[in-house]
Amino acid sequence: MEVLILPSGREVCEQAARIIAHLVGARPGAVLGLATGSTPRPIYAELVRRHRETGLSFRGVTTFNLDEYVGIDATHPCSYRRYMAEAFFDHVDVPAAQVHLPNGMAADIPGECDAYEAAIGAAGGIDLQLLGIGRDGHIGFNEPSSSLGSRTRIKTLSAVTRAANRGCAPAGEELPGHVITMGIGTILEARRCVLVAIGAHKADAVVETVEGPLRAFFPASALQLHPHATLLVDEAAAGRLALRDYYRSVAAAKPAWQRED
Ligand code: F6R
Repeated sequence: MEVLILPSGREVCEQAARIIAHLVGARPGAVLGLATGSTPRPIYAELVRRHRETGLSFRGVTTFNLDEYVGIDATHPCSYRRYMAEAFFDHVDVPAAQVHLPNGMAADIPGECDAYEAAIGAAGGIDLQLLGIGRDGHIGFNEPSSSLGSRTRIKTLSAVTRAANRGCAPAGEELPGHVITMGIGTILEARRCVLVAIGAHKADAVVETVEGPLRAFFPASALQLHPHATLLVDEAAAGRLALRDYYRSVAAAKPAWQRED
């Protein structure tokens, strides 16, 4: 696993946007796996800026989001379809037909999950999967105890996640308790994973991901199995890493031919 420690959250997001822009520039038909949550918002803002100011085009790109709440539609303030439209899709040139999120309103949820997996396969698999991380170690919405081989399916959110995400719900309304999420097995099949973590409140999750044991109880630790996983973290999120000086020295000594931007 590559760990890149950057001075600030702003630089974490700029680096993530640079990696995505580099991929899309080199491969206009790239398949992107996308994440929501508070952490990636500046990444989308930077990609929108590059689209407007440098002509970066997403016309050939296909996207698959990690997850969506069950039982709400795109008009709901917690909807990830709505989040993605507002943060990214409405501001770039990606055709609507090439955008995919799980449909949390589907009458047949298992059928929807199978169709989502099939659509990822039909697109040729995901070239780059962007990930955030929950304090309980979830990636996508694979909560602790999720099978490390899991595929897209329905999951129940943990109390920790519901508390962290409840901000979008209108006063007096509960956050939906169920989600559809790509599985850990689905995520691990992406050709590259880029996880972003910012802030001291993510430091425990980052150390467990990188230096803790591989275990379903901490789903992000599954990235230890991935051949090309990059963690972009700010100083605060890196604060508990035992080998942080080593990770810094690796980044500083990275051969020019290995750099991707
Ligand atoms: C969202 C997702 C989640 C978030 C995680 C962190 O699509 O997959 O795993 O990345 O809950 O969220 P923030 O960035 O809000 O701390």
